[in-house]
Amino acid sequence: MAILVTGGAGYIGSHAVKGLLAEGERVVALDNLSVGHREAIAALETVAEGRLTFVEADIGDRDTVRRTLRDHKIDSIMHFAALAQVGESVDHPLRYYRNNTASALTLLEEALDAGVARFIFSSTCATYGEPGPEFIPIPETCPQSPINPYGRSKLHVEHMLRDARAAATDAGKPFAFTALRYFNVAGSDPDGLIGEDHNPETHLIPVVLQAALGTRKFITIFGEDYDTPDGTCIRDYVHVCDLISAHIAALRALKPGEQRAYNLGIGKGYSVREVIESVRRVTGVEFEVRKGERRPGDPPTLFANPAKIREELGWEARFQSLDEIVATAWNWFREHPDGYRS
Ligand SMILES: NC(=O)c1ccc[n+]([C@@H]2O[C@H](COP(=O)([O-])OP(=O)(O)OC[C@H]3O[C@@H](n4cnc5c(N)ncnc54)[C@H](O)[C@@H]3O)[C@@H](O)[C@H]2O)c1
Repeated sequence: MAILVTGGAGYIGSHAVKGLLAEGERVVALDNLSVGHREAIAALETVAEGRLTFVEADIGDRDTVRRTLRDHKIDSIMHFAALAQVGESVDHPLRYYRNNTASALTLLEEALDAGVARFIFSSTCATYGEPGPEFIPIPETCPQSPINPYGRSKLHVEHMLRDARAAATDAGKPFAFTALRYFNVAGSDPDGLIGEDHNPETHLIPVVLQAALGTRKFITIFGEDYDTPDGTCIRDYVHVCDLISAHIAALRALKPGEQRAYNLGIGKGYSVREVIESVRRVTGVEFEVRKGERRPGDPPTLFANPAKIREELGWEARFQSLDEIVATAWNWFREHPDGYRS
């Protein structure tokens, strides 16, 4: 028996592989390396004690997926593989529906065919769109109404999972799934083995760290006139290692035929200005900050209500302070200013 991690060469997927290996699991990482890193797999192999197999393939490649599920007796899947840039999804929506929805459908069909029992899906708070103030902090019951193709490509997968599970249960199959709706994932492996390397980088903490490193000339704040205490947008930052403990807890808790959904954030928000100040404190470096216009579709405040995952899975984020999260990210970026290429 092994666990399949799709997108295992990416930022979050590679941390999942490391977390599962640390739990003594056998892992098959499947990634088409479209944006993932072979170097991440090579680093993971050094701690895998022979329990990691890498398959370079697309989740939409039916034959390879089928063979992989069968040959490795896959019982559980953590599905991270996706394109994940909101702006790109607006410019190339069909690329997102093809990759994140249609190819996920192939994966799901093959998983059901192979008798996979548990499926953990990387969903996103982007499926909630722009919740009104009455839904802040955001509970799982907040209406899902995404405002961009990325969010919709992910919500379609939640719908497919729900319908497929219901039909599988009716047919007496044990298929169960959990959708984990992440807020902003940040930080890196405290051992420094693997880290975050997106190109282009669009996530706030790495972008600000690039300014501290000097690989980016300045950072721009998009909007300082929001209805928040310092006028800048507020987001919930969850450390990648806490995120992975939640995945492992979700996998262990899932019973045959169940469907679950949890929001994954720490339950408090930090403003863009607070992130910039945290980076200055942690790195001790000054850098230029410029004012920019608001970006369309950027709600002022988004943070999770993590009560459900706390109560049902006993999950609590270990990294609660922004400085601690930023410090682990800084450790990685200082050693790898050019990502895995350095
Ligand atoms: N990073 C965040 O803050 C965040 C927030 C919410 C949700 N998510 C979700 O988490 C997941 C992982 O995000 P990440 O930040 O690690 O992204 P990432 O780009 O670092 O990793 C994604 C990996 O999937 C691979 N991949 C993409 N399409 C594939 C396909 N069709 N077949 C095989 N491999 C494919 C890529 O090569 C890459 O290695 C994504 O599903 C994303 O939507 C991320």
